[in-house]
Amino acid sequence: MNVLIDAGNLQKTYGEGESKTEALKKVSIKVRAGEFVAIIGPSGSGKSTLMNILGCLDRPDSGNYLFENRDIGKLSDIELAKIRNRKIGFVFQAFNLLARTSALKNVELPLIYSGVKQDERNTRAMQVLEDVNLSDKLKSTPAQLSGGQQQRVAIARALINNPLVIFADEPTGNLDTKSSNEIMEIFKKLNEKGRTIVMITHEKDIAQRAARIITMRDGQITSDKKNLHKKRNITQV
Ligand SMILES: Nc1ncnc2c1ncn2[C@@H]1O[C@H](COP(=O)(O)OP(=O)(O)OP(=O)(O)O)[C@@H](O)[C@H]1O
Ligand SMILES: [Mg+2]
Repeated sequence: MNVLIDAGNLQKTYGEGESKTEALKKVSIKVRAGEFVAIIGPSGSGKSTLMNILGCLDRPDSGNYLFENRDIGKLSDIELAKIRNRKIGFVFQAFNLLARTSALKNVELPLIYSGVKQDERNTRAMQVLEDVNLSDKLKSTPAQLSGGQQQRVAIARALINNPLVIFADEPTGNLDTKSSNEIMEIFKKLNEKGRTIVMITHEKDIAQRAARIITMRDGQITSDKKNLHKKRNITQV
C-alpha cells in the first residue's frame, strides 16, 4: 500500500541551557496507508512530540516530512491547518468534549467550522455515531455518558471529516479495562475498514492490538516490529 507518512531525521528541542531537552533526536518513520501502529515508551521519551509533528499540530526544528507525498515543511500555517482539518483525526486521553452539549452536536462541531449545512451535518454525525455504536445516545451530554462512551463520541468527532489517519494519544489512559476494550474494538473495526491508525499507549496489552509496535526511548525509536502476537479479539485479553 501507499506510504502515507514519510518522516526523516525529525529533531525537536525544547528550552535552552540547563533546561534544554532533546525531545526528538533524528527520528525517521514511515507509515503506509491502512496500517495500525502502536507507539510505546516511557514517559518523556518523545511520543507526543512525534505525534504532534506527524499530525501537523507542530513542526520539527529540522528534518523532512512528507504526508501523502506533500512536503509539509514547505506549507504555510494555513495550508497546514487545512491538511489537519481534512485529512487527520485526533483522539486524546481527556475526551475534550463540550460539557453541556449533546453527543450529536459535539460530533457536528468540526463541520460547523468548515461551513457544512445543518442537514448534512446531522446525517454525517448520525452515521459516525453509528460507527462507534452510539446511535442510542445522540442526545446525551458528556455527564450522562460513561468514560468509554465519551471517548467513543470523541472518536466519532475525529471521524466526521473522513480523515485518512487517526492519531490517538493515550486514548484508553482514563478508562477501565472494559471501556478500554470497547475503544480497541472500535479502532480494530475502523482499521479493518481501511483507516490508518497511529496510537500512543503506556499499556503493553493495548499495544498488542496493533499490527506494528514502535518503541521510543530518550527521543529515539529503539525498536520497530511487526506484532506477530496481535490479539484479534477481546476475549483473548
Ligand atoms: N512544550 C514543551 N516545552 C518544554 N519541554 C517539553 C514540551 N513538550 C515536551 N517537552 C519535553 O520533551 C520531552 C518529550 O515529551 P513528550 O511529551 O513527547 O513525551 P511522551 O513520551 O509523550 O511522555 P508521556 O508518556 O508522559 O506523555 C519531555 O522531556 C518533555 O518534558
Ligand atoms: Mg505524551
